[in-house]
Amino acid sequence: MAGQSIADTLGAPLDRESPTPIFAQIRARLEDTISSGDLVAHQRIPSERQLSDRFRVSRMTVRQALDALTRDRFLYSLPGKGTFVADRKIIEQPLQHLTSFTQDILARGMRPSSRLLEGRIVQASFEMARLFGLAPTVEIVQVTRLRLADDEPLAIEAVHIPSALVPGLLDRDLAAESLYLILGRDYGLALVGARQTIEAAEPTVEEQRILGLDGPRPVLRISRLTHDANGHVVEYARSVYRGDRYHLTVELR
Ligand code: GLP
Repeated sequence: MAGQSIADTLGAPLDRESPTPIFAQIRARLEDTISSGDLVAHQRIPSERQLSDRFRVSRMTVRQALDALTRDRFLYSLPGKGTFVADRKIIEQPLQHLTSFTQDILARGMRPSSRLLEGRIVQASFEMARLFGLAPTVEIVQVTRLRLADDEPLAIEAVHIPSALVPGLLDRDLAAESLYLILGRDYGLALVGARQTIEAAEPTVEEQRILGLDGPRPVLRISRLTHDANGHVVEYARSVYRGDRYHLTVELR
């Protein structure tokens, strides 16, 4: 669709009486046009001039909307060429099967990677020991990783595993390899199921920084208790996923 005709599909005139600033209304219109598929990935959007004519606002107001959309990775610009719709792949995790982060990302045709944020051995708190059905003095390996898809931060994940099950785990290359792969291959731990809890939440300032969010955008907090064939809890994981990139799907029958 040519730039001008897209400018025509951007909806009714703006509501000048609304408490929502004009630039935010323009931003929302463009976001809707992208979500509805009228503007697709790598398509050039109408120029600042076309948009300012369309909405009868100054180019500065249009620029404010475009800057916000660019910051949030809805758009990207190429100097001298214009502003384009970014390819915002949504990662879906189907909830019927137990999968690892690596599997979820590969299934979307993307490249998974990790950065190790912390790896240490701690003494289980009373609460954590209870989750594993162990005595409170037990030692736990705690590994915190930033998980990325195509080099973009997607989640912060802290996993806890009783040390006795995984001697030497912290010496492995946890940034390069799938944890589930290591558990199966090196420790003979076959994970067969999990109980997962999902909550919508606001990220902490630290989480926003690590995930590269430009403000308190909604995230998903996911807790997983993963067990082996005997029902023994092997892993307790707490993750925080970017809410705008990560979707959970459930099959209902
Ligand atoms: C998911 C789960 C975690 C699990 C991780 C393993 O993200 N929420 O509980 O630890 O997968 O991922 P990988 O095997 O890619 O390291």
